Amino acid sequence: MPRIIMGIESSCDETGVGLVRLHDDGAVELLADEVASSVALHARFGGVVPEVASRAHLEAMVPTAERAFAKAGLRLSDVDAIAVTAGPGLAGALLVGVSAAKAYSAALGIPLYGVNHLAGHIAVDTLQHGPLPSPCLAMLVSGGHTQLLRVDDVASSITELGSTVDDAAGEAYDKVARLLELPYPGGPPIDKAAANGDPKAIAFPRGMTGPRDARYDFSFSGLKTAVARWVEAAERRGEKIPVEDVAASFQEAVADVLTMKAVRAAKDFGIGTLVISGGVAANSRLSALAGERCAAAGIELRVPRPGLCTDNGAMIAALGAHVVAAGRPPSSLEISANPSLPVTVVSV
Ligand code: KG4
Ligand code: ZN
Repeated sequence: MPRIIMGIESSCDETGVGLVRLHDDGAVELLADEVASSVALHARFGGVVPEVASRAHLEAMVPTAERAFAKAGLRLSDVDAIAVTAGPGLAGALLVGVSAAKAYSAALGIPLYGVNHLAGHIAVDTLQHGPLPSPCLAMLVSGGHTQLLRVDDVASSITELGSTVDDAAGEAYDKVARLLELPYPGGPPIDKAAANGDPKAIAFPRGMTGPRDARYDFSFSGLKTAVARWVEAAERRGEKIPVEDVAASFQEAVADVLTMKAVRAAKDFGIGTLVISGGVAANSRLSALAGERCAAAGIELRVPRPGLCTDNGAMIAALGAHVVAAGRPPSSLEISANPSLPVTVVSV
């Protein structure tokens, strides 16, 4: 069975290369996790520019891999299998990683595993907290996704319970940050501003929490519009915008709905473990409120450290290791990037 697995991630604006070791008992050990981000190149556009991201991946891929091997004290010839994000993500960005992975696979004569980025966000938690219980509930909150997933086996069986009907949670953070004239990406500066604000200052709406709304779906575009209207009205009155209170009240609305629906799903399905991952999982209020509500409901909460929550190569290497351990077949060298790969397809 392959032992050293290299993971390559390039679905958005992070070029990631991770190296893990798969042990006989199925445990997966992190050996290296190197990331090069092109976020600074996109900041002035207020969002990721696909063409700019693809070019940045092309430049960063080999140097990032070299850094990962140096960190792990390994050589290319030590690698037994390559895992790569096959989707979902930006088409051109994905293609850079998939092409690099095919080249490594062909040159080294080792198997290639095209895997799902979203499943990678869940699998990464095993690097920090050990094997996932079956079933567990995963809440994926990033710039592009907001999903509640039932995970029976991260290598082969993931079911979607609900997702956002409009904006992703991170997207809402980025849009509200722009309204408040805070930098991109908006999550970290809003989190920081909120620390000094009053979360009860403004009662922003909780999307999709009415009795007729789908139980596990989310909506954040109404919240974003409510913040915009509130800021406009204050400006019209000639008032100074209380950025810290707006940030805290917005953040409270997001954390409230996310944790309420996650705990509800865990209770409905009798699932005892909740994993929260993706960039927004780094949010201080989200993890604090999730901690409180999970404790009250007797649910175990697992949140990977922030560096593992945002996009990285270790998450792809970790998922690759679980796919290998499960005895799933390798991918053909003919695979392509699939920008809209569904979360139910863990490996292609
Ligand atoms: O998972 P990720 O790195 O990339 C995607 O796959 O999208 O997530 C990026 C998103 C951005 O929208 C960013 O604003 C948000 O995660 N984010 C945060 C925090 N740190 C990053 N949102 C809220 N609070 C944070 N501390
Ligand atoms: Zn992601």
